[in-house]
Amino acid sequence: MVDCYKLSIRGEVPLHGETFVSGGKNTSLAVVPAVLLCDEPCTIENLPDIEDIHVLYRILTHLGAKVDYNNKERRMVIDPTTVDKTAVPFAYSQQMRASYYLMGALFGRYGEAQVGYPGGCDIGSRPIDQHIKGFRLLGGEILDESGMLHIKGTLSGSIVNFDMITVGGTINVMLAAARAKGNTVLMHAAKEPHVVDVASFLNSMGANIKGAGTDTIRIKGVPHLHGTSYTVIPDQIEAGTLMIAAAATRGDVLIHGCIPTHMEALTAKLLEMGVFVNSQDDRIRVRLNKGHRSIRLTTQEYPGFPTDLQQPMSALLTRAGGTSEVIENIFDNRFKHLDEMRRMGAQVIISGKTAYIEGVPELRGAPVTATDLRGGAALVIAGLMAKGVTEVYNPDFIDRGYERLEDKLSRLGADIRRERVE
Ligand code: EPU
Repeated sequence: MVDCYKLSIRGEVPLHGETFVSGGKNTSLAVVPAVLLCDEPCTIENLPDIEDIHVLYRILTHLGAKVDYNNKERRMVIDPTTVDKTAVPFAYSQQMRASYYLMGALFGRYGEAQVGYPGGCDIGSRPIDQHIKGFRLLGGEILDESGMLHIKGTLSGSIVNFDMITVGGTINVMLAAARAKGNTVLMHAAKEPHVVDVASFLNSMGANIKGAGTDTIRIKGVPHLHGTSYTVIPDQIEAGTLMIAAAATRGDVLIHGCIPTHMEALTAKLLEMGVFVNSQDDRIRVRLNKGHRSIRLTTQEYPGFPTDLQQPMSALLTRAGGTSEVIENIFDNRFKHLDEMRRMGAQVIISGKTAYIEGVPELRGAPVTATDLRGGAALVIAGLMAKGVTEVYNPDFIDRGYERLEDKLSRLGADIRRERVE
C-alpha cells in the first residue's frame, strides 16, 4: 500500500531569517532532455531535487542513456551516446507535463520520436498544437497513434510563427531546430528566463541561437553538439513563493541566490500592496509588519505577472484590505485552490477568468486538498496565515515542483510538518 501524507500547519507564526532558492524547475525540465541532442556527455549542476527531475532520470535511463544522478549534490552527468530507443512509454509521459520536451530533443537528434501526450497539473486545457505545427514545419510527419505521438522526418530549418505565446512550444521547437539543416526563425516566441537559459545551454554545446529573450529567435542549425558543464538558473517561481510567504506571515526574510530582475513583476505588485521589498545583487529581502492593500492583478507572459505566482499571490490577497481583482489570462482553470480557501473563511467570487477576493481579517485553519502544484503552495501559504491548524492533503503535487518546501519554511520558523495519513 502507498503511504499518503498531509502537511499539518499551525498558522500565524511570522517567518524570520535567511533562506536560498533552488535551481529552476522549468529550465531543468528542458535542459535535461536537451542533453539527448549532444554527441558527448554533459554535466548539469544546480538541478532542483524534485519529483519531476526523478521522473526524467528514469526516462533517460529507460532510453539507454548512462546517467549518474547525485540528487544530494544537485548534479546529473548524462552520457547520451548509449541511447538506443526513441520511444518514451505512455506511462512515463503521463507523469509530467515536461515530457513533451523529449519530442523536440529525440526528433532533433534522431529524426524520430514516439512520446505519449503529456500529463501534468490539471489547470485547464493544455493543447500542444503549436509544438506540432513547429515540428511539421521543420519536416516532421506526425502520426497520432492512440495517445502516442509519432514524429518522423528529415529536419530542415523553417520559419515558425506561433499563433500564441507558448513557453513549451518555443523551447521544444528550438530543441528540434538546433541541429536541423539550415536556418530556423521562431516568431512570436516566449521570452521567459528559462527560454533564455535553455538557449544558453544549447549554445554552450556549440549551437548557434540568437535572440532568446526577445520575440524573434534565430537558429542556425549545426551538425554536431559537444559536451558541456552547465549550471541552471535559480527558480523564480520558488523565489516568488518564498517572498509571498514572508509577506503573508508578516515576517522578515532574506532570500539568497535569486535573480532580482526576474522578480520585477512580483516585486512591483508587493510594493503596491505596501510590502517592503529590497533587492541587492542576488538577494531579496521581504518584510511586512502591518496590513497590506488589495490590488488588481493580471497574469501575462514574461515580463508580465507570471501565472505560476497567481495562486500563491491570491492566498496573500485573501487578507488584504479591500477587494482585489485577479485576472487569469494564461490557463482556464487555475482557481481551484480558491474553492478550498473558502473553507478557511476566504471571501471569493469567481466569474470566468476573474476572481474577486475580498480581504477578511482572519483565515481559519481547515483540512484542504491540493489539486495542482502552485495551488498546493497557495494552500500552504493560506495555512501559514490562518488561525489554528490547516491540513493540506495531496502534498505530492507540491513535491513535483518545490524542493522540500516545508523544510525551507520550518527553518524560517514556520510550524509545519509532514504527517502520515492514517
Ligand atoms: N497553448 C496552446 N497550444 C500550444 C501550447 C500552448 O493552446 O501548443 C496554450 C496553453 O493551453 C496555455 C497557453 O497557451 O493556455 C500558454 O501555455 P504554455 O505553452 O506557455 O505553457 P506550458 O508550456 O504548458 C509552461 C510551464 C508552466 C507555466 C507556463 C506558462 C513547464 C513544464 N510548464 O507550461 O508551469 O505555467 O509555461 O508560463 O515549463 C508550473 O510550473 O506550475 C507550470 C504549470
